[in-house]
Amino acid sequence: MDETIGNNPGSDHDMAALQIQDLKAQILDAKLKNELLEREVNQLRKENSQLKRVPLFVAVVVDVLEKGEVYLRQQGNNQEYVTSVSEKLHRQLKPGTKVAVNNTLSIVKIIGNIYDSRIRGMELEEVPDVTFESIGGLQNEIEEVREAVEYPLTKPQIYERVGVEPPKGILLYGAPGTGKTLIAKAVAHHSNARFIRMSGSELVHKYIGEGAQLVRELFILARERAPSIVFIDEIDAIGSMRTHDGTSGSAEVQRTLMQLLAEMDGFGNRGNVRIMAATNRIDMLDPALLRPGRFDRIIQIPLPDLGARREILKIHTSKMSLKDVDLEEIGQMTENATGAELQAICREAGMMAVRRDADAAEHADFIAAIRKVKREKDQIPFDTRMYL
Ligand SMILES: Nc1ncnc2c1ncn2[C@@H]1O[C@H](COP(=O)(O)OP(=O)(O)O)[C@@H](O)[C@H]1O
Ligand SMILES: [Mg+2]
Repeated sequence: MDETIGNNPGSDHDMAALQIQDLKAQILDAKLKNELLEREVNQLRKENSQLKRVPLFVAVVVDVLEKGEVYLRQQGNNQEYVTSVSEKLHRQLKPGTKVAVNNTLSIVKIIGNIYDSRIRGMELEEVPDVTFESIGGLQNEIEEVREAVEYPLTKPQIYERVGVEPPKGILLYGAPGTGKTLIAKAVAHHSNARFIRMSGSELVHKYIGEGAQLVRELFILARERAPSIVFIDEIDAIGSMRTHDGTSGSAEVQRTLMQLLAEMDGFGNRGNVRIMAATNRIDMLDPALLRPGRFDRIIQIPLPDLGARREILKIHTSKMSLKDVDLEEIGQMTENATGAELQAICREAGMMAVRRDADAAEHADFIAAIRKVKREKDQIPFDTRMYL
């Protein structure tokens, strides 16, 4: 038994009193600290609302750098700068994130990812499902495109080993419906790359006044989703020979083209964003687009020859029931037809069989389909047909 404690109730009491005193002091201390903190919170709240009240600039994150820094580009005036952000923001920011910055260029808040609001005007396909097997003919053209687009993505070491630079941009030209888009998609499929398509004519006619901005955003998106293939369809709509007519429309197209050239110049030949374009009016293109370092590999996509027509007809009838159809003869009868027209012929032949309530499409259905598709083609006014 411990006599000391049992016989000394006074000292026990003293101890407790001391403890209480100590705790009271702590409470007081905490209260003081709390008061100071509250004052600070109020001060920060005031500053915060002050910051939020002034109009904010919108900027886009170009790159997230080390040590809590980010590289921003201000929208509108295109000014670029590096600014520091909190650790939390630093983790949240990605290239392409839209942010609001105040007049001291600090980020006040995140607005969102640019591609969420701006994907309009672009068509994004996570790895398209078109394969080379679904393209008839064009073997040499496909191989050329693969060398310029696919292998730099999938086997970059070969280019390094041999010491050559793959081309910067690939331009496909040929009549509409010859398979340009198809090739671009198939290459994206086989390179396991995102496919981002933007139509030049849509850019000019649908997004008036926003062309340059959309081009900028296209490339931000492409970098963010790399490996990716940017495909600018109907590039002649933005890249026509400069029309110096001084209208605001031509100035706008000019700005869009300038932005495209600037974006292309900002890329290395070996990056994992590959750039392709297509046109059926190569004669109209501004030579600036065709200079080295821009679209420096030009590939013509021809009309299918007999062998290719045969292959295309096979591809587009592979899921159809046929009865006594001589595809060889159909191929011979369709000189000057494009891949898209051959596809239309197969579809029409199928529709004729459906209308007859038959089990399969027959040779006569194909003959009738050829006539129908040809007739439709001939109805296109002459001045348009000239360019087809
Ligand atoms: N070489 C081809 N092989 C198979 N189908 C083709 C071929 N060329 C065109 N087509 C068909 O025509 C459609 C339109 O072709 P597309 O690639 O959009 O032509 P372009 O981009 O040259 O105008 C394709 O979706 C495909 O069904
Ligand atoms: Mg196309």
